[in-house]
Amino acid sequence: MSEQTLGRPLSARMAAVQTHVMPDVAALIEARPGTISLGQGVVHYGPPPQSFDAIRDFGGTPSEHHYRGAAGIAELHDALRSKLADENGIFIDDEQQVLFVTAGSNMAFYHLVLCACDPGDEVIVMSPFYFNHEMAITMANAHAVVVPSDEKYGLRLDAIEAAITERTRMIVTISPNNPAGVVYEVDAMRAVNELCRNRGIYHVSDEAYEYFTFAGTQHVSPGVLADSAAHTISLFSFSKSYGLANWRVGYMVAPKPLMRALQKSQDTVLICPPVISQLAAVGALQAGPEYCRGYIDGIDAVRTMCLQRLQQLAPQCIVPQANGAFYLLARLDTPLSSMAVVERLIREHKVAVIPGSGFGLRDVCHIRIAYGALEANSVEEGMARLVQGLGTILQMA
Ligand SMILES: Cc1ncc(COP(=O)(O)O)c(C=O)c1O
Repeated sequence: MSEQTLGRPLSARMAAVQTHVMPDVAALIEARPGTISLGQGVVHYGPPPQSFDAIRDFGGTPSEHHYRGAAGIAELHDALRSKLADENGIFIDDEQQVLFVTAGSNMAFYHLVLCACDPGDEVIVMSPFYFNHEMAITMANAHAVVVPSDEKYGLRLDAIEAAITERTRMIVTISPNNPAGVVYEVDAMRAVNELCRNRGIYHVSDEAYEYFTFAGTQHVSPGVLADSAAHTISLFSFSKSYGLANWRVGYMVAPKPLMRALQKSQDTVLICPPVISQLAAVGALQAGPEYCRGYIDGIDAVRTMCLQRLQQLAPQCIVPQANGAFYLLARLDTPLSSMAVVERLIREHKVAVIPGSGFGLRDVCHIRIAYGALEANSVEEGMARLVQGLGTILQMA
């Protein structure tokens, strides 16, 4: 049934956007009190104390509450330039590049699609995709071209190259990956970046999970590669690493020709990123990556526990090795839809995960398990319920 407003259908643009699975899962959880959620893609810890120190004196004068520059405040830009150079090896070349702060990296992505794509243009995303990327592309009247990954959710360069057409404007990679938890190989990222350079396409690299790497894997920013500045867009976020999800601070390094368009888009929808949040981000950068790394061993132990627990369900449940972010993507041998499995898990077993359908996985049933949002003992209890629930649903009990 199509939705109506004042007796007319909603815009065709929004009607084309997939129904977002997260509110549906949230409603199911609400209706089943006591459900343990392995759904949410956030961390279990809050921001560092330096973030609170940085905002303590904010707001005493009226001018501190005025609008500020669209691209972000100078204090944050200075701190980000050092961070990008020291940690990512990205030395911003002001002749060629811009640093642009947004209210979260989802907003950065949406701006980019609006700025770089005309209606009908194509953006290549990997399967499984991050739903908000695909939704943003559709909202901009562009077209998400979904390219299959390999069995372990790694990049398939042949398929990516074959998907390029005259209308391709961007190739999007997410590493470490949501929802698959995979960390792409350096060589594969280099190959994608070179392909983009050779074909005149932007390489959009979403690095929201840059610090969440395990088992000896390394995060690599394609923006560090030689001759990448003119076609590479690197997206970063404070939401995960620094526990600042609802403060809404993200940023991008983008080719300079996009600057005017980015300013138009930002000015129209946001005017400027909230200054208090930007100051909290400056404080977070003073704490530095060690803050997040202090939690990594604990999260890694939880990841290992989750992988071990799920192994009991093989071969009806297969989980490829996932060495990054805080997600596992399980492939289930069942004729049920992923949403039907999620509904049963919540209603009958009081544990929530996210259906693979939201990430474009519709042919084979998948569920995404997020293990970063809760303390270890709660994840353990959630996994016990999940393994028991899946065992019943997959009829192995
Ligand atoms: C790959 C990816 N990019 C971006 C975001 C959103 O980041 P932000 O909170 O900075 O908008 C998420 C959140 O789950 C994500 O998984």
